[in-house]
Amino acid sequence: MDSNTTTSTDVLATLLRQRYSCRAFRPDPVGREVIREIVADATHAPSWCNTQPWQLIVTDGEETERLRKALYRSAETDLVDAPDLPFPAAYEGAYRDRRRECGRQLYESIGVPKHDRAASHRQLLENFALFGAPHVAVLTTDRSLGVYGAVDCGLFVQSFLLAAGSRGVATVPQAAMASQAPFLREWFDIPQDRLILLGISFGYPDEEHAANGFRTARVSADEVITWAGDRR
Ligand SMILES: Cc1cc2nc3c(=O)[nH]c(=O)nc-3n(C[C@H](O)[C@H](O)[C@H](O)COP(=O)(O)O)c2cc1C
Repeated sequence: MDSNTTTSTDVLATLLRQRYSCRAFRPDPVGREVIREIVADATHAPSWCNTQPWQLIVTDGEETERLRKALYRSAETDLVDAPDLPFPAAYEGAYRDRRRECGRQLYESIGVPKHDRAASHRQLLENFALFGAPHVAVLTTDRSLGVYGAVDCGLFVQSFLLAAGSRGVATVPQAAMASQAPFLREWFDIPQDRLILLGISFGYPDEEHAANGFRTARVSADEVITWAGDRR
């Protein structure tokens, strides 16, 4: 093959490696047609029995602003922790270390000193201001499909993130949004048979913002794989 040819492997590897969780956005909106294209691409994610359990509520324009204000006010005064699916009870060992490291990177990049609880709380609340994004997509799954419905939705999420990235649209998946499930259920009139999994704030990135100035690390493939034969 011609060495100048960009292969689909290159394209995918670039999209995978360039994606990052964006925590500061420009205010200019993404057009509805582009959002439709992103979602249409993401629907090609696989799902068990092709159930396609994902549903999105997407905000734009004034709807985003109304939600941003009300959700922020609600979280500021009463930061409930009431997700539809239980959050991890604890992060231990390597998980604790990785969690700490990505938190340290974020706080360091935006200049929040270690142990400054007020400042880190303010940054946490930025989740509910949607990090200034012009849109959020609230993702729900069907309660009856249980854990595997949520697995299917996870595949959809990554497809959405990459489809957005391929169009220059930055994203951040937010379990923090799920912690406010009672608020969101009432706000959007979400029926009880739908579980709120997360929100994805999205828009064009503010590339100069310090919150977008770091990238998280990954373990190597060799740390992920156990070759079955090598264990004998
Ligand atoms: C299911 C899920 C929930 C997440 N929830 C949040 C969140 O509530 N707030 C946030 O700022 N980032 C959140 N993130 C982003 C992660 O912190 C981020 O993916 C991780 O640190 C790796 O960094 P990267 O996305 O920049 O590669 C979430 C990511 C996933 C996949």
